[in-house]
Amino acid sequence: MTQPVTLSTRDGVAIITVDNPPVNALSPGVPEGILTALETAERDASIRAIVLICAGRTFISGADIKELEQAARNPASGGPDLHPLLTRIEDCAKPVIMAIHGMALGGGLELAMAGHYRVAVADASLGAPEVNLGIIPGAEGTQRLPRLVGVAAAVDMCVSGRPIKAPQALQMGLIDRVIDGDLLSGAETFAREVAGLPVRKTRERNVSGSASENAAIFAAGRVQAGKICRNQTAPLAALEALEAATTLPFEQGCKKEREIVRRVLAGDQAKAMIHIFFAERAVARVPGIPKDTATYPIANVGIIGAGTMGGGIAMACANAGISVSLKETEQAALDRGLAAIRKNYESSVKKGRFSQAVMDQRMALIHPQLTYDGFNRADLIIEAVFESMPLKKQVFGEIDKIAKPDCVLASNTSTLDIDEIAAATSRPHMVIGLHFFSPAHVMRLVEIVRGKHPSNEVVATSLAVAKKLGKIGVVVGNCRGFVGNRMMLPYMREAQFLVEEGSTPEQVDKALTDFGMAMGIFAVDDMGGIDLAYRVKQEYAHLRKPGERVPLVLDKLYEMGRLGQKRGRGWYRYDEGRAPIPDPEVDALIEKTANEAGIARRTVTPQEIIERCVYIMINEGARILEEGHAQRAADIDVIYCTGYGFPGYRGGPMWYADTVGLKSVYARVQEFHKQYGHLWEPAPLLKKLAEEGRSFADWDQAKG
Ligand code: NAI
Repeated sequence: MTQPVTLSTRDGVAIITVDNPPVNALSPGVPEGILTALETAERDASIRAIVLICAGRTFISGADIKELEQAARNPASGGPDLHPLLTRIEDCAKPVIMAIHGMALGGGLELAMAGHYRVAVADASLGAPEVNLGIIPGAEGTQRLPRLVGVAAAVDMCVSGRPIKAPQALQMGLIDRVIDGDLLSGAETFAREVAGLPVRKTRERNVSGSASENAAIFAAGRVQAGKICRNQTAPLAALEALEAATTLPFEQGCKKEREIVRRVLAGDQAKAMIHIFFAERAVARVPGIPKDTATYPIANVGIIGAGTMGGGIAMACANAGISVSLKETEQAALDRGLAAIRKNYESSVKKGRFSQAVMDQRMALIHPQLTYDGFNRADLIIEAVFESMPLKKQVFGEIDKIAKPDCVLASNTSTLDIDEIAAATSRPHMVIGLHFFSPAHVMRLVEIVRGKHPSNEVVATSLAVAKKLGKIGVVVGNCRGFVGNRMMLPYMREAQFLVEEGSTPEQVDKALTDFGMAMGIFAVDDMGGIDLAYRVKQEYAHLRKPGERVPLVLDKLYEMGRLGQKRGRGWYRYDEGRAPIPDPEVDALIEKTANEAGIARRTVTPQEIIERCVYIMINEGARILEEGHAQRAADIDVIYCTGYGFPGYRGGPMWYADTVGLKSVYARVQEFHKQYGHLWEPAPLLKKLAEEGRSFADWDQAKG
């Protein structure tokens, strides 16, 4: 194995190069290598300054995440201790210049801040994204950052986790020069300029601001933390550590930081967020699909239907530089679809997300049309017409005649049987479900619905397409509602039972958002449309068992034309904005309906709301797992955290079940079963794991 750190010298400047692909993480061997190289360079009398630079596509992008995972398992360790290395760098008698390209994030930024100077290319990013993993900068970052950029900027970076670009970092004092052209020669030039100057130690700098100024900044930081990271403890912990930098000498501040690190590592949130981080990376490993499975190159995509989903998928493709043929049946529908795309892009330009030139490029990649012209050149065709089996079959029959033999044929169906759709073609092995979520150009999740037929290459290509579009593709089985919507249905049903029993939509939604859900379930229902929920309910009616309890209020809302947000009235009322307003008319309707049905009204606690809504999902998730429609419990977690607004800091429903303990979850499910009947029948896998004292994570691990 090649050394991850090497040392070379040129005209009095030592160059330490870190080369630890793919992202130059601080894996074991790297800190030791840097230390050895630094000490060698320091001893060498011919050396006047030292540059630390990285090979490959980035500067040190962060700590070794595997080490962090271990640290979460053993919080007392506090994770890898970089303190001796950072002190050694800072104490070096010769100026150490950190030369940054790509990303200097987390541990990478912390290491860079221990250098005496930092230079970076203009498109380099620097940041402290630890809060996204439920932790805080733990290698003295909370102590050095405010000394370099001031308290307010440090608070913003650590609480939001958002990286900044080099020019902004220069303005803030985080770096000393933006290098045009070759980074190494620029860094060497800089090194020669500062060689011989007394070294500047970051830790010896004062933190700016008076006590009262800083108190105001921290108070504002707490408000910011509450807004962007509801319920999360890491941003508050980061603030606490930053506050220590303003009140304690450096060494004591570092000690405090380490104490806080141990505390957050010991908490459930860091474990959950680290779980999701790994789970998102593991979804691409699909049993039975070897890593080296060939994929079809995707440069041209054909999309059928320019409605909500077709338009969004077209934008997702254009955003990734893929050319799109977008087909509709009528000019008016095509015009509507294109207008929606344009409006969306214009709003992004207005908000400064990208320039007009970028918008023009993207629009030019989308070719609206009323025929299948050019679809014979498409590498992938995605059907996004109305949700109707006869129509989908007709469309697949048509494209089967036109598409080239190696074109992947995908349906965006959210409920229909993909095998039945595939049977309408002469090549079921090329057919797959690509279930995007709305808005498709924003939402990261794609359920890749694998029926009986698709070839390994088609599955692998689908995963590659999701990645190319910047999304997370999760392979799921071909069952009713696939994974996400299948679990959503009992969740929605249970929420409706809760209001019949005495809660209000607002109380249910508040309990859910307090728990951390991005939106309450009734607000979601209003957004999706009461007509859609009504239709799904009708479609599922034949699956009901005799005497099964059925929610009663939804049909009435539908009959009253309260179709949700689009009509300004559903479970809630809506004014100009999209914020739901509780409606006494709905509360009265619920009460009347419940009374007529003889349902006793009582006080429902937030805890019961959470247990009934979340445990019913978990129970269904356990069934899905056992049937093999999801490969891993962790895949279900990814689906829920990326597509359904489940809080990442709870790690997804299955991880949450493990956190509560399957024994307790199972016990409650049994109680609900006794009370509410067969809809709560415990999933055999939940029962089995609970009785064996195992977890869903154990199940995943045993499956490998
Ligand atoms: P939509 O009603 O907004 O758009 C469907 C479009 O397809 C219409 O513009 C219609 O003119 C067009 N169309 C119908 N037949 C066509 C044909 N033969 N050739 C070309 N265009 C044709 O529907 P939406 O919401 O975009 O849904 C499309 C599909 O995506 C459905 O299968 C739906 O279940 C699924 N889906 C919808 C989601 C949503 O949130 N709306 C989420 C995920 C999947």
